[in-house]
Amino acid sequence: MCGIVGGVAERNITAILIEGLKRLEYRGYDSAGFAVIDDDGVLQRLRRVGKVAELDQAQQQEPLAGRLGIAHTRWATHGAPSERNAHPHFSGGELAVVHNGIIENHEALRHQLKGLGYVFTSETDTEVIVHLLDHKLKMFGDLADALKAAVKELHGAYGLSVINAAQPDRLLAARSGSPLVIGLGLGENFLASDQLALRQVTDRFMYLEEGDIAEIRRDSVQIWDAAGQLVERETAQYHEGAEAADKGEYRHFMLKEIHEQPKVVQRTLEGRLGDRQVLVQAFGPQAAELFAKVRNVQIVACGTSYHAGMVARYWLEELAGIPCQVEVASEFRYRKVVVQPDTLFVTISQSGETADSLAALRNAKARTEGEGRYLASLAICNVGISSLVRESDLTLLTQAGPEIGVASTKAFTTQLVGLLLLTLSLGQVRGTLSSALEAELVDELRRLPTRLGEALAMDATVEKISEHFAEKHHTLFLGRGAQYPVAMEGALKLKEISYIHAEAYPAGELKHGPLALVDADMPVVTVAPNNELLEKLKSNLQEVRARGGELIVFADREAGIEDGEGTFIVSMPHIHDVLAPILYTLPLQLLSYYVAVLRGTDVDQPRNLAKSVTVE
Ligand code: G6P
Repeated sequence: MCGIVGGVAERNITAILIEGLKRLEYRGYDSAGFAVIDDDGVLQRLRRVGKVAELDQAQQQEPLAGRLGIAHTRWATHGAPSERNAHPHFSGGELAVVHNGIIENHEALRHQLKGLGYVFTSETDTEVIVHLLDHKLKMFGDLADALKAAVKELHGAYGLSVINAAQPDRLLAARSGSPLVIGLGLGENFLASDQLALRQVTDRFMYLEEGDIAEIRRDSVQIWDAAGQLVERETAQYHEGAEAADKGEYRHFMLKEIHEQPKVVQRTLEGRLGDRQVLVQAFGPQAAELFAKVRNVQIVACGTSYHAGMVARYWLEELAGIPCQVEVASEFRYRKVVVQPDTLFVTISQSGETADSLAALRNAKARTEGEGRYLASLAICNVGISSLVRESDLTLLTQAGPEIGVASTKAFTTQLVGLLLLTLSLGQVRGTLSSALEAELVDELRRLPTRLGEALAMDATVEKISEHFAEKHHTLFLGRGAQYPVAMEGALKLKEISYIHAEAYPAGELKHGPLALVDADMPVVTVAPNNELLEKLKSNLQEVRARGGELIVFADREAGIEDGEGTFIVSMPHIHDVLAPILYTLPLQLLSYYVAVLRGTDVDQPRNLAKSVTVE
């Protein structure tokens, strides 16, 4: 989704802006651009549809230089991907804006500004910001004062940055609903929507909070909070994830991230397991007291994170004996919900900035006693400085490190680990889980990184199997019990990056409809751990074979399912049934990866998708 980079320095910053945009490419975008104020004080701009590499090439052909500038990668919401709609947007020849988010009252503002004589050159909601700002600048003279007045009239979400050729020593920024971070240099300062974009120039960051407006100069930063008071924001040193922006020996970030899973699962477990117990305080000092009161769990998330929640429902009900509901955030946020007493509200998110998940959390927190309050909110999240974490009562940080591939892999498995820790903690505190079973599962968790390593060793086998899919247009994924959401995640991965239509079904539902689709052109992928549902699953597989369907089965090596005509078995390491969903996710990730490579798609940045969906 959209990305912002900006800077004010003594040196020419064009290369820094472009490098920053490249580092944000993983978020997904369809066009890119930048604007600088050159040494003659003239505002210059370059925009291109497509990749940042094309913008870079254009910039090398007609170089633009400047010591103050802003840059942007756009993911179209209002108006098609085109050069005209790409940011930065101008008002007159002096003022430029880049913007992430959506201005909801853009139509009313556009109408009003047209009445004032402003001429619009794009279909974007962003263009209203720059004209509104120009209007305010004419009233106030000072850019910061103009911005403070303009944002009062904006409804919706924004992270934005502004430059003005008439005041070429300052970079302005405003945040409401879309993250921004200031990167502090020596005699130069920068701005970005994600600190990863600025790791090339600094490791000292200052995070803007909701409602903040910042005036950034070469040697100073001033920040006003939502109430207009001058405030100080803490400076943080960034260490983690220096390796993340580099693919290393791997061809794609996705493959690198798949192979990082044993390591990041290990990190997510670190400091959270006692000898025979999960350490409940991993969820925060007040967790034990709160967890003892929990009688229901409501999980809300989007995309892959939603699938993690679906797995957790099986765990929470089976192991902790707690009723659990799971819903996608975009539905939940607009639905009138009935809250059961003592419900823990759990959000799951890699980024912690997904607009729907954040809105769902805010709605949940706004509930009053009369309409049923939630007991507390808990975020399972991969980004410690995210809005979701800041706004939740309790947090469990997954330690996946920065995830660059748009299709989520290591974030998902670390979320599952976090959710299993939550399940065991709730079971422990509420006395619904036997200490013997908890100790057994703690042991299994300790062994999990090794098991994941063994599953990844099947890389070449899965690559071979992927050849069955290269020419196919449709696939089915089947699973039973907690493996059903794993099948859903497998299907999501395949459609996200290979663009093959894939659907997941609980295997028992096969004969209620999807069986009608099964023929030799429809491979059926199944996850089959050695559990009590195995015999039933085997019957489902027979139903597919009898219709000529080709079966690809990821099966426990002790499951007794054998290769045969049209049936391809991939033997999986044996694992405790509770942890099987984590292990069985890996071959499905590899499968979608290799199919996508065979089909020649853009694996790390699939078409139309964004890493972090910060708009509705
Ligand atoms: C986008 C990403 C998915 C992700 C989903 C939720 O759709 O492409 O990979 O699962 O957003 O994101 P979150 O950051 O909240 O987990």
